[in-house]
This record gives sequence, structure tokens and C-alpha cells, in this order.
Amino acid sequence: MTPAAQDQKLKGKETISEQNNNHEVSVKYRVTVVGSGNWGSVASKLIASNTLKLTSFHDEVRMWVYEEILATGEKLTDVINQTNENVKYLPGIKLGKNVIADPDLEHSVKDANMLVFVTPHQFMEGICKRLVGKIKGDVKALSLIKGMEVKMEGPCMISTLISEQLGVNCCVLMGANIANEIAVEKFSEATVGYREDKEIAQKWVQLFSTPYFLVSAVQDVEGVELCGTLKNVVAIAAGLVDGLEMGNNTKAAVMRIGLREMKAFSKLMFSSVKDSTFFESCGVADLITTCLGGRNRKVAEAFARSGGKRSFDELEAEMLQGQKLQGVSTAREVYELLSQRGWQELFPLFTSVHEICIGRLSPSAIVEYSEHTPNFSLVEGSAQLI
Ligand SMILES: NC(=O)c1ccc[n+]([C@@H]2O[C@H](COP(=O)([O-])OP(=O)(O)OC[C@H]3O[C@@H](n4cnc5c(N)ncnc54)[C@H](O)[C@@H]3O)[C@@H](O)[C@H]2O)c1
Repeated sequence: MTPAAQDQKLKGKETISEQNNNHEVSVKYRVTVVGSGNWGSVASKLIASNTLKLTSFHDEVRMWVYEEILATGEKLTDVINQTNENVKYLPGIKLGKNVIADPDLEHSVKDANMLVFVTPHQFMEGICKRLVGKIKGDVKALSLIKGMEVKMEGPCMISTLISEQLGVNCCVLMGANIANEIAVEKFSEATVGYREDKEIAQKWVQLFSTPYFLVSAVQDVEGVELCGTLKNVVAIAAGLVDGLEMGNNTKAAVMRIGLREMKAFSKLMFSSVKDSTFFESCGVADLITTCLGGRNRKVAEAFARSGGKRSFDELEAEMLQGQKLQGVSTAREVYELLSQRGWQELFPLFTSVHEICIGRLSPSAIVEYSEHTPNFSLVEGSAQLI
């Protein structure tokens, strides 16, 4: 049954119960998307197409825009509301007339009971601080953000940051989702990770699912989120291999070693992480698409072609027109965690990527660590170092 048909069925039930109890029972959800970059704009488009069809959602989708003045002198928000297009981050794609760009963060969330967070991860701590006490009591959150914060006690996933700072339930949605391909409605899949409440997860699945975007839910928030986060580090390695023109076998080897490190790292950090999560769209599929086509791969290729002489910051500014790289900062965060625990040698690919990014090693070092075979004993449900 399509999401629209399911919702219509639900609406039918509500109507019956309305007649029986003589009072209004339907809960209408109001959605705000916090973020409006490349993926944030595509997420708004997907959501807006569904809120028009699904009767349990208000049609309007508010999208918080970090205000920018365009080269024309106009405000990005005004242009989005006039043209229905995010001309800077997703040019040429209509978002849906029911997407309203709002430059005022607090105003954009005040009536929402479903919040979708989709900004580069480095901005989330500040955004959460601004939202404390500004959101409704019954809000459910979803994070599409890839990345983490590193604390002394270990990694703090972005969903945890949102849950703890705002006191809300936070699921995640990750997958093999290069935004520009979904924008033109090419078929792809995604995974929602949830902690306990399957019903909330199903609501998110319903909000995002379309015939060209298939979403399924798994009970493994940390596993899903770590897959989405760590694959960006592997994508840097894949881009270095491309820049050094090492060929497909080398790239496949780097992807395999990277997937192995992703799994071991995730299980060491959170023993609840499930093996099966790595076979969902958020796992191996996202790793493949990011290593073949993503922006981390592209910039790392250029970095290797420059012989490591141009910095990632410089290349990001030149090649991405305001979009942000996540892999370089995630590699640093992973490295910090590995250093805190003295585990660098166990994760040679993750360690090398960071050391190459900061210029301590040359790009060719990406394949010069084979003598350090990591000693993982991966047992079902956990990873142990031996
Ligand atoms: N683009 C993709 O294909 C894709 C796919 C899946 C997941 N993601 C993830 O989605 C998240 C958002 O990425 P994106 O592609 O939508 O963004 P983006 O990199 O395209 O754009 C950067 C965004 O950050 C905003 N910004 C700049 N400075 C800011 C500040 N100080 N405070 C707040 N916002 C600021 C910009 O206005 C812009 O909206 C990231 O975690 C990314 O890893 C991206």
C-alpha cells in the first residue's frame, strides 16, 4: 500500500472514531526542515511532495535558511520564495510551492512538531543552543547529518546531541543518497535508524517515501549514523586513489579495508551496533556511491593531483561553491578518538587519511600501511581488540 493510501485508511479510522466519540482526534503534523544546503533542499522537496498527499500532515513545509546575500545583491530566502528554487545550493529544481524559506531559526520551528535537521555537522551545537526552550513539547526530531562531536568520554553522535540538548526523541535517516541524483528523481534507497519507538520511525518513513525513494527502518540509531559518518573518511581515501591513478582494484581494496574499519570502530564505540546494518542502504550502498561520486572523493582526488600541495580548505572553497566537506573534519574527529585510546595502529586507513589531510604524510601513503594488519576479533554483537 502506498503511503498516501495508508494515510487515507488512517484518516478513515479517525473519522469513524470522531463520529463515535464526538470529538476531534486527528493529529496533524507540521514539519520544519532546519537546513537548506544541497541535501536540505532535496529533503524539503521530498517532504513537500508528501505533505500535499498525506492528510495527517499540514501542507506547508518551513525550511530554515542560513541567510546569504547572492552576487545579485538579493537575499537567498527572498529568491527561494519568489522562484521556488534554491538557486545557490540546488539550482534548476523546483522545491514545491508549499516550501516556505524562513531566515529566522526560532520562528521557523515554533509551530512544528516534526523537525528535520540537515546542516553541516559543525553548526549543530550552536543551532541546538539557540533552540533550547523554543520548540513545542511534543516535537519529534530526525537527523540527516553526517558527522559527530568528539568528547573526552567518546563520540557524541549528532542525534544524541539533539536528543540531549532539546530533550526530544531523535531518529536518523542515512543512505546512498547523493542529493543531486535524488533531486532529479532517480531511484534510490535510504535507512531510518530508530532507538525504541517504531511508530515514530514509521512516521518518518511515510514522510520521506516516494516511488523513487524507498525508505526502510532499522532499530540501530548508532549503527546507521556511524555508517553515514565514517564512510566520508573512506571516500577521502578513494579520492586519493583516483588522484594517484591507481586503478579500480586499489580503490576496491581501500573500500573493503575502509568498510572493515567502519564496522570495527562502530562496534567498539557502541556494542549495540548490529552487523546487519552494514548491509542496509546506509552501509555498503552509501559507501559505494560516496566513493564513486561524492564531493569528498572529488576534492581528495584534486588534493592528490596537486601532490598534497593545495590544502583541503582551499580546494573546498574553490570546488564546492559554499557546500561543505565532511570527510576531513570527521577524519580528525576519528583520529582524536583513536589517539585518546592508543588505537591508531588498529585503524591504519582512518589514521592515514587524517595524517595525509594535515600534510604529515604524502597522498601515496594511503596504500603504504599494509604491514600494520589490525588485530580485530569481531564477534557477533561486539568487537574486541586482541
Ligand atoms: N549533499 C549530499 O549529497 C548529502 C547527502 C546525504 C547527506 N548529506 C549530509 O547533509 C548535511 C547537510 O549537507 P547539505 O548538502 O545540505 O549542505 P551543503 O554542504 O550543500 O551546504 C552548506 C549549508 O550550510 C549553511 N551554512 C553555512 N554557514 C552556516 C552557519 N554558520 N550556520 C548554519 N548553516 C550554515 C549554508 O547556508 C548551506 O545551507 C551534511 O551533514 C551532509 O553530510 C549530504
